[in-house]
Amino acid sequence: MNMNKNRWLITCRLGLLLTLSLGVPAFAQDAKEGKDTDETAAKYSRRGADTCLKCHDEESEFPVFSIFKTKHAVPADKRTPFAKLQCETCHGPIGEHGKMMLRKGQKRAPILNFGPKSAVSFEQQNEICLGCHATDGRIGWKGSSHDQVDVTCTSCHDIHAPRDRVLAKNEQPEVCYNCHKRERAEFYRPSVHPVRFGEMACSECHNTHGAFTASLLARPSLNQTCYGCHPEKRGPFLWEHAPVPEDCALCHAPHGSIHPALLIKRPPWLCQACHSQAGHPSAGLTGAGLPGGTPSAFLLSGACTNCHSQVHGSNHPSGVKLMR
Ligand code: HEC
Ligand code: HEC
Ligand code: HEC
Ligand code: HEC
Ligand code: HEC
Ligand code: HEC
Ligand code: HEC
Ligand code: HEC
Ligand code: HEC
Ligand code: HEC
Repeated sequence: MNMNKNRWLITCRLGLLLTLSLGVPAFAQDAKEGKDTDETAAKYSRRGADTCLKCHDEESEFPVFSIFKTKHAVPADKRTPFAKLQCETCHGPIGEHGKMMLRKGQKRAPILNFGPKSAVSFEQQNEICLGCHATDGRIGWKGSSHDQVDVTCTSCHDIHAPRDRVLAKNEQPEVCYNCHKRERAEFYRPSVHPVRFGEMACSECHNTHGAFTASLLARPSLNQTCYGCHPEKRGPFLWEHAPVPEDCALCHAPHGSIHPALLIKRPPWLCQACHSQAGHPSAGLTGAGLPGGTPSAFLLSGACTNCHSQVHGSNHPSGVKLMR
C-alpha cells in the first residue's frame, strides 16, 4: 500500500473523536485533495484499504472486493480514490469504527455510508462524488430535476459492482424503470424507439445529470435531440411544414405509441387536429353526410399522407402542398 508517512503522523495525534456530521464538509474537501485538510483531528487509518479488509471481505454481508475491478481502484491513476485515501476517500475517516475490541454491549462507531439509510444528507453524499466529478456533463447537476427530488449519484450508480449497470446500454433502462414506471409502459408499446431491444439507451436523448431544457434533454432543444440521429428531418427545405421545425413532439411521442411511426394520433385525425376539415371534406369517413354516401377520397386508406407524402418538408419545386 502506498500510504505516505504523514498519514502515520496524523493517525498518531490520537484522542480526538470525530462526529460524522461535523466531519463531512471538511471531508468532502479531503476527498478532492486526497489528503487530510483538517489537521486538527486524528482520523484516517494508517494502512488504508488493508485496515478495512481485515473485517470486510468477500464473505461479508456486503462483499467489497469487487471494487478492485472498477476504474476507481487504479492507484496508478492519480485522480482515483485508491491513489488518495483509498476506501476512506469515499467513506470518510475511520475514526473509532475500526476498533478491534469492543466492550460487551458496546456498539461499533458508524462510518460514513451512502443511500437512504446514511447518517448524512443526500446533498452531502453527492458532494463527495462531485468533488471529483463536477466536470463535463455534470456541471448542471445542482438544482436539476433529479437533484431536486433527492435522487443521489448512488441511486443510479453501483459503485462496488464490477459492472455498473447504468453505464451499459442494454441494462440502463431497468435502472431507470425502478422509478419511471410510466416510461417502461411507453417503451413496451407497438411502435417504439428500440430501447427494449438494447439498441438504444435513455441517455442518448437525456442527460440525467442535469440539463438546461425541460425533461433533461441531451441537446439544447427537443428538435436538436432528434436531429442527432434523424438529420434528414432538419432540412433546409424549400417548402417547410410549419410544425416540423417547431416541435417534433407535436406529432410524435418520443418514447413510443400505439400508432405506427410513433405518431400521437393517426392521420387523418392527426392532421385534422390542426387543419380545417372544410378544404378536404372528412366528416365522411363512413360516407355519411356526403353526396352519394361515398367516403371522401381524401380519407381513403393512408389518408392524408397518401397524397401529402412529404409531411416533414419538400425540396421539390412543386412541393408546396408537401406532395412530392
Ligand atoms: C474491526 C472490524 C472493522 C474494520 C477494521 C472496519 N469495519 Fe466497517 N464495519 C464493521 C462491522 C462489523 C460492520 C457492520 C455494522 C455494525 O456492526 O455496526 C461495519 C459496517 C460498515 C459500513 C456500513 C455503515 C455502518 O457504519 O454500519 C461501512 C460503509 C463500512 N463498515 C466501511 C468500512 C471501511 C471503509 C473501513 C476501513 C476504512 C472499515 N469499514 C473498517 C467492521 C469493521
Ligand atoms: C468511490 C467511492 C467508494 C469507494 C472508494 C469505496 N466505497 Fe464502499 N461504498 C460506496 C458506496 C456509494 C456504497 C453504497 C452502495 C453502493 O452504491 O454500491 C458503498 C457501500 C459500502 C459498504 C456497504 C455498506 C452497507 O450499507 O452495508 C461497505 C461495507 C463498504 N462500502 C466498504 C468499502 C471498503 C472496505 C472500501 C475499500 C476497499 C470501499 N468501500 C471503497 C462508495 C465507495
Ligand atoms: C477521488 C476522486 C473520486 C471520487 C471521490 C469519486 N470518483 Fe468516480 N471516478 C474517479 C476517476 C478518476 C474515475 C475514472 C475516470 C476515467 O477513467 O476517465 C472515476 C470513474 C467513475 C465512473 C465511471 C466508471 C466507468 O466504469 O466508466 C463513475 C460512474 C463514477 N466515477 C461515479 C462516482 C460516484 C457516484 C462517486 C461517489 C460515490 C465517485 N465516483 C467518487 C474519481 C473519483
Ligand atoms: C438518474 C441516474 C443517474 C444519476 C442520479 C447519476 N448518474 Fe452518472 N450516469 C448516468 C448515466 C445513464 C451515465 C452514462 C451516460 C452519460 O454519461 O450520461 C452516467 C455516467 C456517469 C459517469 C461516467 C461518464 C463517462 O464519461 O464515462 C460519471 C463519472 C458519473 N455518471 C457520475 C455521477 C455523479 C457524480 C452523480 C451524482 C452527482 C451521478 N453520476 C448521478 C446516470 C446517472
Ligand atoms: C431513484 C429514482 C429514480 C431513478 C433511478 C431515476 N429517476 Fe428520473 N426522476 C426521478 C424523479 C422522482 C423525478 C422527478 C419527478 C418526475 O418528473 O417524475 C425524475 C425526473 C426525471 C426526468 C425529468 C422529468 C422532467 O420533467 O424534468 C427525466 C428525463 C428522467 N428522470 C430520466 C431518468 C433516466 C433516463 C433515468 C435512468 C438513467 C432515471 N431518470 C433514473 C426518479 C428517478
Ligand atoms: C429518442 C429519444 C428518447 C429516448 C431514447 C428516451 N427519451 Fe425520455 N423523453 C424524450 C423527449 C423528447 C421527452 C420530452 C417529451 C415532451 O416534452 O413532449 C422525454 C421525456 C421524458 C420524461 C419526462 C416525462 C414528463 O412527463 O415530463 C421522462 C421521465 C423520461 N423521458 C424518461 C426516459 C427514460 C427512463 C428513458 C429510457 C428508458 C427515456 N426517457 C428514453 C426523448 C427520449
Ligand atoms: C440516438 C439516436 C436517435 C435519436 C436521438 C432519435 N431517434 Fe428516432 N429512431 C432511432 C432509431 C434507431 C430508430 C429505429 C429505426 C428502425 O426501427 O429501423 C428510430 C425511429 C424513429 C421513428 C420511426 C419509427 C417507426 O416505427 O417507423 C420516428 C418517428 C422517430 N424515430 C422519431 C424521433 C424523434 C421525434 C426524435 C426526437 C425526440 C428521435 N426520433 C430521436 C434513433 C434515434
Ligand atoms: C405534422 C406532423 C409531424 C411532425 C411535426 C413531425 N413528423 Fe415525423 N412523421 C409524421 C408522419 C405522419 C409520419 C409517417 C409518415 C408516413 O406514414 O409515411 C412520420 C414519420 C417519421 C419518421 C419515420 C419515417 C421517415 O420518414 O423516416 C421519422 C424518423 C420522423 N417522422 C421523424 C421526425 C422528426 C425528427 C421530426 C421533428 C424534426 C418530425 N418527425 C416531425 C408526421 C410528423
Ligand atoms: C400542429 C399542427 C399541424 C399538424 C398536426 C399538421 N399540420 Fe399541416 N400545417 C400546419 C401549419 C401551421 C401549416 C402552415 C399553414 C400556412 O402556411 O398557412 C401547415 C401546412 C400544411 C400544408 C401546406 C398548406 C399550404 O397551403 O401550402 C399541407 C399540405 C399540410 N400542412 C398537410 C398536413 C398533413 C397531411 C398533416 C398530417 C400528417 C398535417 N399537415 C399536420 C400545422 C399542422
Ligand atoms: C387524393 C389526394 C389528397 C388527399 C388524400 C389529401 N389531400 Fe390535401 N390536397 C390535395 C391537393 C391536390 C391539394 C391542392 C389543392 C389546391 O391547390 O387547390 C391539397 C391541399 C391541401 C391543403 C392546402 C389548403 C387547401 O385546402 O387547399 C391542406 C392543408 C391539405 N391539403 C390537407 C390535407 C389533409 C389534412 C388531408 C387528410 C384529411 C389531405 N389533405 C388529404 C390532395 C389530397
